[in-house]
Amino acid sequence: MKRVRLGLIGCGVVGSGVLRVLHDRGGTLGSLELEASRIAVKHLSRPRPAYVPREKLTDDWRSVCVADDVDVVIEVMGGVDVAHEVVRTALSAGKPVVTANKALMAAHGPALRALAEQHGVALRYEASVLGGVPVIHTLTTYFRANRVTALRGIVNGTSNYILTQMGDRGTSFADALSEAQALGYAEPDPTSDVEGHDAFFKLQVLLQVLGVDTEPLRQELPVPEEGEVHAAERPRAYLAVPREGISHLSADDVRRAKLRGEKLKHVASACWREDGVVEATVRVESLAPSDPLYGIDGVENALVITGDVVGTVTLTGPGAGALPTASAVLEDVVQLVAVPHAGNARVEDELEWRVNSSRR
Ligand code: HSE
Repeated sequence: MKRVRLGLIGCGVVGSGVLRVLHDRGGTLGSLELEASRIAVKHLSRPRPAYVPREKLTDDWRSVCVADDVDVVIEVMGGVDVAHEVVRTALSAGKPVVTANKALMAAHGPALRALAEQHGVALRYEASVLGGVPVIHTLTTYFRANRVTALRGIVNGTSNYILTQMGDRGTSFADALSEAQALGYAEPDPTSDVEGHDAFFKLQVLLQVLGVDTEPLRQELPVPEEGEVHAAERPRAYLAVPREGISHLSADDVRRAKLRGEKLKHVASACWREDGVVEATVRVESLAPSDPLYGIDGVENALVITGDVVGTVTLTGPGAGALPTASAVLEDVVQLVAVPHAGNARVEDELEWRVNSSRR
């Protein structure tokens, strides 16, 4: 059995979830023996669950990124600036990296993937989008014959949980948010969830996976008129309407939708225009029962992918929380050991790599 030693950077909800799974499984996952050999945390003295091996804790993340007894670095600390340095340090030291960090990937994904390529190691980030639902794996390994023409999804578990509780139980926004925080769904600063930033980051990551330039989206630039657009080398994504959160919604808004037989949902979407522009939005929509996203409740997430040959395919599952997210992190670890370079490149590049590697 192959032994893989993990260097964990961060031990919050997701990091603890990873350690809990390793503990519960006695370190064996699939055909691998996994062990957390070092764990970097901010506060050494903070109380932690019994399954966190205290003797492995350090407050020096750099030493974890370059340690000889670390085969794979897992970045689950969140935030952008320090996490960026962490991932760059690890990749530059020739360590494959698994990250759950959507804000980091939205801001620096293309450059980090290029750095990983340069050092010949994998960078995987399945856990950054839709928690335990394998959407990035699907978009990078499938949808090669199809041209993706639209994405539409519920990609934030916290806001979906809040809207569901407000609709089903008449819970107030504040109480439902507190519950989502207690369940470990919300970001450390839940503003990111309820103002749509988190969903917007995830949409950017998904578009990057499909080879779309998301820089205008990152700057929240509005969609240009058709005549203003010159044929670009690859599609560029723009914001179709201003990004919207859910914090302005009242119990009355939710109740009125219910009286119409509809549900208010926080929906992220992207649609490919003929001229190479991708129009993206994150906004509240009132959905009828016939909508594939209508029945997605609680912490459940879903992504409807439209391909020009297949039509629509919907992936659903748990979008947040310690174990679903830990599941995606650990699946990435197993994947990168099985197929060391997969996950780095855009769909076309990765296909080329696979064709070449199969000739060797
Ligand atoms: N805060 C995020 C959510 C966690 O609620 O979806 C998972 O990315």
